Amino acid sequence: MNIVLFGAPGAGKGTQSQLLVERLKMVQISTGDLFRAAIKGKTELGQKAQSYMDKGELVPDSIVIGMVDEVLTRLNGNSFILDGFPRTRAQAEALGKILSQRSLEIGKAVFLEVPREELLQRLTGRRVCKSCGAVYHVNSKPPKIAGVCDLCGGEVIQRNDDREEVIVTRLKTYEENTLPLRDYYKELNKYVEVNGAQETEKVFSDVRSALKL
Ligand code: AP5
Ligand code: MG
Ligand code: ZN
Repeated sequence: MNIVLFGAPGAGKGTQSQLLVERLKMVQISTGDLFRAAIKGKTELGQKAQSYMDKGELVPDSIVIGMVDEVLTRLNGNSFILDGFPRTRAQAEALGKILSQRSLEIGKAVFLEVPREELLQRLTGRRVCKSCGAVYHVNSKPPKIAGVCDLCGGEVIQRNDDREEVIVTRLKTYEENTLPLRDYYKELNKYVEVNGAQETEKVFSDVRSALKL
């Protein structure tokens, strides 16, 4: 089953996606990771996205939708997770059209619910691998060797937009644009909610139960 995983910045979309990839062989499509890769590769797409990301604002719909459309043409038949897309009503509607053109569909949209205080702690303490994108946290999930990725040996760093002033803008952007998508997926009868403020493994088992996987 193809799913949308959505929720606030820091809700655990990347963390849960990583588990779904490792254990259920799903494919993760994270628009945030794709933009970060484009920035690293100094591509035109990266240049367009960077100024928005550094401020904690959304990259314009047309750019994101075009990118997702292209990625969806390169799928290998595995079920996919959309991590961080859609984030606006226009993106959600465009996704519906793109998928139906390819005779694909979203089975469920999983909303990870986490209170704001917890989000702030998670985002300020998050670290990520510069090479493979693996997600860590200074307190709750430090790499075995400080600064070194457990998975690939890459350098573990702080994300550019995990500074406090940018985090505040990201949360506001999320509340205004993405939170209303709960109603959109409720209307489509695809909405499921999981308490994201639990231990990672418990969240994962709740996600699996919600998806009946
Ligand atoms: P994106 O990269 O998607 O960032 P985000 O939505 O802000 O979400 P995060 O990646 O910060 O959080 P997450 O939910 O993945 O949490 P994680 O698992 O890492 O987007 C970045 C930017 O790109 C956007 O601001 C925008 O500019 C642009 N963009 C992307 N998509 C776009 C779109 N569709 N439209 C327009 N613009 C777009 O976890 C966070 C931390 O918490 C980690 O340290 C982790 O170890 C820890 N943690 C996770 N789960 C738990 C748990 N259960 N208990 C304790 N700690 C936990
Ligand atoms: Mg993420
Ligand atoms: Zn790594």
